[in-house]
Amino acid sequence: MDRQIGIIGTGSMGGMLIRSFIKGGAVTPQNISAANRTPDALNAIAAETGITPAENNRALVRNADFIILCVRQPDVAAVMEEVADILTEEKLLISVASDVCLSTLEALTPARVTRVIPSLPAEQLKGVSLIVFSERITPADREEITSLFGAISTPFVISEPDIESYTTLTSCAPAFFAAMLREFVASAVRMTGVSADDAEQLARETFIGTASLLDIPGTTCEDIISRVATPGGITEVGVEVLSRAFPPLCDDLFAATERKHASFRAPSSEE
Ligand SMILES: NC(=O)c1ccc[n+]([C@@H]2O[C@H](COP(=O)([O-])OP(=O)(O)OC[C@H]3O[C@@H](n4cnc5c(N)ncnc54)[C@H](OP(=O)(O)O)[C@@H]3O)[C@@H](O)[C@H]2O)c1
Repeated sequence: MDRQIGIIGTGSMGGMLIRSFIKGGAVTPQNISAANRTPDALNAIAAETGITPAENNRALVRNADFIILCVRQPDVAAVMEEVADILTEEKLLISVASDVCLSTLEALTPARVTRVIPSLPAEQLKGVSLIVFSERITPADREEITSLFGAISTPFVISEPDIESYTTLTSCAPAFFAAMLREFVASAVRMTGVSADDAEQLARETFIGTASLLDIPGTTCEDIISRVATPGGITEVGVEVLSRAFPPLCDDLFAATERKHASFRAPSSEE
């Protein structure tokens, strides 16, 4: 892509996008600039990747065609106000902020706005980027945005009302899967006497191997379960425990994340 991409915020998501766009060949370092509140973090990623550090958010917006806003939700409005007069309809704004809806963004700028929810596995050119297009987005924009995020992940276009539940399945899920693995390892240490190092290594290798099996087109979770859990055998007993105890826990997780989204929708009513 020949566009000049400007990334505001070089934290977890901004940094991941810079590395992934370069790794996935979507954009060259020469076509990426970034700005960040803390200069040290910006200079570190510029030195690592060869992108251009912008002097500030305004300089970045002036020089970029696509601006990707990677700040946390409470910082979005301040950044938008800072660049309001130069973020014109000529510019395309991609916001990765969770819980900042298109209508809020559109009220702050005439720019062509879209929302993308990337996920950390894009750093390995895996996982899903959720995309919500606004009505200001042109067919050419659609193609460019889909191709940009398609170079680092599977792009998945959704409508805005679906974004919260889909986010739980995609951008939150790497943390959930990692937390599950951590608890599995901790339990192995508690219950079996295996050393922490061995448990970590064995479970991690097996987790990655299982993910690779799932990567084979057509392979389902049921396929893997039935191939490992011989009827009447040891694994089957463990699968039975999971089938009994895990669904309520997952329901709790989805209920808790939904409550958190609701608290962002109406901050005074919860928490
Ligand atoms: N993490 C994920 O997996 C994930 C996935 C999808 C979407 N998101 C969304 O992405 C957004 C960013 O999340 P994150 O995890 O990347 O947060 P983060 O690591 O805290 O990064 C936010 C970055 O924004 C910078 N910043 C804050 N105010 C700024 C300003 N006025 N001008 C320039 N830069 C500014 C911060 O600078 P400092 O260096 O000074 O802190 C920091 O580098 C959030 O809305 C989150 O919901 C995150």
